[in-house]
Amino acid sequence: MPVMKVLQVSAEIFPLLKTGGLADIAGAMPRALSAAGCEVRVLLPGFAAVLEDLQELQPGLELTAPWGQGVVVRRGRLASLDLMAYVIDAPQLYLRAGGPYQDAQRQPHADNHRRFALLSFAAAELACALDAEWQPQVVHSHDWHAALASAYMAFSRARQPLAVVSVYTVHNLAYQGLFAAELFAELGLPDSVFSVDGMEYHGQISFMKAGLSYADRITTVSPTYAREIQTPEQGCGLDGLLRARAGVLSGILNAVDESVWNPAHDPLIPFAYDARKPAGKAQCKAALQQELGLTQRSDALLFGVVSRLTEQKGLHLVLTALDAMLERGAQLVVLGSGEAALERALSDLAAAYPETLSVRIGYDEQHAHRIFAASDVTLVPSRFEPCGLTQMYGLKYGSLPLVHRVGGLADTVVDCTLEDLAEGLANGFVFAEFSQQAFERALCRSFALYARRTEWNRVRSRAMRQSLGWENAARQYVALYQDALNSL
Ligand code: ADP
Ligand code: GLC
Repeated sequence: MPVMKVLQVSAEIFPLLKTGGLADIAGAMPRALSAAGCEVRVLLPGFAAVLEDLQELQPGLELTAPWGQGVVVRRGRLASLDLMAYVIDAPQLYLRAGGPYQDAQRQPHADNHRRFALLSFAAAELACALDAEWQPQVVHSHDWHAALASAYMAFSRARQPLAVVSVYTVHNLAYQGLFAAELFAELGLPDSVFSVDGMEYHGQISFMKAGLSYADRITTVSPTYAREIQTPEQGCGLDGLLRARAGVLSGILNAVDESVWNPAHDPLIPFAYDARKPAGKAQCKAALQQELGLTQRSDALLFGVVSRLTEQKGLHLVLTALDAMLERGAQLVVLGSGEAALERALSDLAAAYPETLSVRIGYDEQHAHRIFAASDVTLVPSRFEPCGLTQMYGLKYGSLPLVHRVGGLADTVVDCTLEDLAEGLANGFVFAEFSQQAFERALCRSFALYARRTEWNRVRSRAMRQSLGWENAARQYVALYQDALNSL
């Protein structure tokens, strides 16, 4: 089979720029797809870290944005990923204080519609041979930031034949990229797109909806979430459209980049270990307890949370259960950042329980790795979760996940019921109903299993051996690309 050329379009990419799981996936997918026989390039906004990493520059490609602004698309190789990349060099749009989406006061940048429309516009131009030396056959865009690529491509195709398909992956339907209707005129799309069959959403423009309306194929990041988003409860107002497009919608479970997340070779943790030789895990636990000033007790059940602090993640369940957990001798280590009220509530509690609770507010890649390595249980009680990566990192690091049975959490974690323990399927703790009581029953199961240490160790060893690598997901993406190309 000839090599398939794929352009991946995203706002974030690990290790250069990360606010959540999207970056991990965008960083791992190119190598996984290459191993599966694709030739992958990426297109990224010219944020400082991305521009700095770009080497072996070839002559830039000139582009005029729909609102008349001239920009240059740089071509080169991202050194830290060893990956060919197109980077949109537009300092007025991308080089500024704050994060990729928000300013230093955590307010959305006022021109986000332009910043991300340009990302998609450049993708569609590359699909139309902006680079005479390399033209993709598949444009695979991620989340609302890159969703308009499908719309721009659909309208290029209306003007001229285009042997390129668009694939749009939803990582989180809750973040939609909504903007005021007046801004539509700046996007350079035909008027018909601002309609209920296009990207109009209750009088606003929705980048997410454009992706869902115009992509040749839609994927999301777990099979269960692919079903959930077709229901009114989890459809964020787009479930009707998703049901109408069910024929081209599928769920492909995310995977773990084992070159980054593997306790046997992880430079960010103090002691290496694996399922065969797990002793280093106890040393990692002791080291973290010492570093954080927690009581040095090897037998304290240590819970870990590495999370964005948002409503989605269900962490109020943990706050409410905290006293009961600590009374039972547990310890809790939290790393996160996000909503101010949650940050404050967690920090206040940490001050009250310095020997059993540690809270670090902020973003810290190394601390995240150390928490997975040290903890016994990874808590992910999310209200909803498209896929979730931290429960999978928990599995790899032998920190058994405790999760709400929703989205990708339901697809990756099997509760320690007696029958699933007996059959060797159990790898964590799962609660079905999103309630305090159900969460606390799952906590009780984790304490109960921890009291049977031989059984605990058996489950942990199995969890660590589980295959969570990219081969399977990459194969499914390639099959999907091929199928889309065949239907052109
Ligand atoms: P989401 O993308 O919804 O935030 P995921 O579980 O898919 O959830 O991915 C979260 C990613 O972000 C993981 O790689 C996790 O380790 C990382 N992460 C979350 N919060 C922090 C933090 N405060 N510091 C370091 N890494 C974090
Ligand atoms: C989103 C989702 C998360 C998923 C990640 C990567 O941020 O919230 O569940 O794991 O994207 O696909």
